[in-house]
Amino acid sequence: MDRRFKLREKTSQSHAALEGLIGAFDTIGDYHRYLRGMHSFRIPLEAWLSSLTWPPVFGNWRPVMIGAALSADLADFSLQPHSMMDDFTLSPDPDSVFGTLYVLEGSMLGAKLLSNRARQLGLSESFGARHLGLQTSTPANWQMFLAVLEDSAQFNVDDASHAANRAFHVARSAFSNTMEA
Ligand code: HEM
Repeated sequence: MDRRFKLREKTSQSHAALEGLIGAFDTIGDYHRYLRGMHSFRIPLEAWLSSLTWPPVFGNWRPVMIGAALSADLADFSLQPHSMMDDFTLSPDPDSVFGTLYVLEGSMLGAKLLSNRARQLGLSESFGARHLGLQTSTPANWQMFLAVLEDSAQFNVDDASHAANRAFHVARSAFSNTMEA
């Protein structure tokens, strides 16, 4: 089994829990809550990534940043961001970075489905669902990430899946806070 599928197996419960929390967002109110949760999850994480000294194994590869698009989506609805989580710091070792990025970049796979749901609510990549447009238009970046992941000389699946589950946990906290707001 390759590394990606090991990570998928070891995070499947976390993904299912998050998916259950977000739900199907079939009303615009649900979509607003999803958007605020996603914004509050991604902004601190992307700030951490922006200040990261990248492990050499990643070469020139960098993740797709959707924070600015999420802010623009919130602005489309005149929604205020939910209060941010406190400082987000993670170990910069390659396994932790792999696990965290697996969650961030892998979420573009589910974004296809979310994008279809958003379209049914009348949203698009130029209004309200800009971040989903960005995520679904960059499949090559995910493929390049997988190539780096599989080719890395050193990889510890336990450390990487620990970091991935932590990222899912951070997402769950961000979405829970927004649901309660
Ligand atoms: C209601 C919300 C969500 C739904 C319905 C959903 C659905 C899906 C689906 C259907 C896939 C598999 C797609 C495929 O194999 O082509 C997927 C993959 C994935 N999603 Fe989600 N997702 C949701 C939210 C999220 C969020 C918020 C994150 C991250 C914080 C996330 C992270 C991932 C990851 C990492 C994968 C890749 C798994 C793999 O290795 O194949 N998902 N999602």
